[in-house]
Amino acid sequence: MTLKLKRTPGLYLVGFMGCGKSTIGRILADQLGWPFYDIDADIETQEGTPIAQIFDERGEAAFRDLETKMIHKRVKQVQIGIPGVIVLGGGAFVQPRNFELLENNGVTVWLDCPLEIVRRRLGDDATRPLARNPELLAQLYEDRRPLYSRADFRIEIADEEVPAIVNRILDLPIF
Ligand code: S3P
Repeated sequence: MTLKLKRTPGLYLVGFMGCGKSTIGRILADQLGWPFYDIDADIETQEGTPIAQIFDERGEAAFRDLETKMIHKRVKQVQIGIPGVIVLGGGAFVQPRNFELLENNGVTVWLDCPLEIVRRRLGDDATRPLARNPELLAQLYEDRRPLYSRADFRIEIADEEVPAIVNRILDLPIF
C-alpha cells in the first residue's frame, strides 16, 4: 500500500453528502503539505455556475459528464507524480467509469457517516439537488453504501472533531 501511494500520490475522499469530505480534505491536505482539490468547487469555477443550477438547467447526466472530465483532469496530475488530496462529490465514486479510474490511480478513503448526522448537517440545504427529497435521500444513502464500500479504506465518522478524523486518516498504513 505504501508503494501504491508513492507511485500514484492521489488520495481521494469519497462518501455521502454531508459527511464533511471538503472540510476534512482541506485540513488533511494542509497537514500533508499537499495541494487540495474539490471536484464540485472546480466544476462550479470552470462553469461559472452553481451545481444546483447545472442540475436544474442541464440535467444530472450533463453534470456527471462534467464531473468525470474534472476527475480525469486531476487524475492526470496524479499520474505525472503531483500529489493531491482530491474530494469527490457524493455521487462520483458510484459511477463505474470514475471508480475504475480512481482504482488505478491512488488510494480511496470512504468517510462513512450515519444518515442521522447527514440529515442534521444538510438541514434544508437547497444547494444539493439530490438532498431535496428526504425519501430519495434515504434511498440513495442505502443504494450507495455497497458501492462506497469498494474504497480501499473506510473511516467511520461519529460526532467527533475534525482534527481527530484527520488524524485517523493520517494513521492509515499508506504514508
Ligand atoms: C451529489 C453530491 C454533491 C454534488 C451534487 C451531487 C450526489 O456533492 O456533487 O449535488 O450525487 O451525492 P457533496 O457530496 O459534496 O455534497
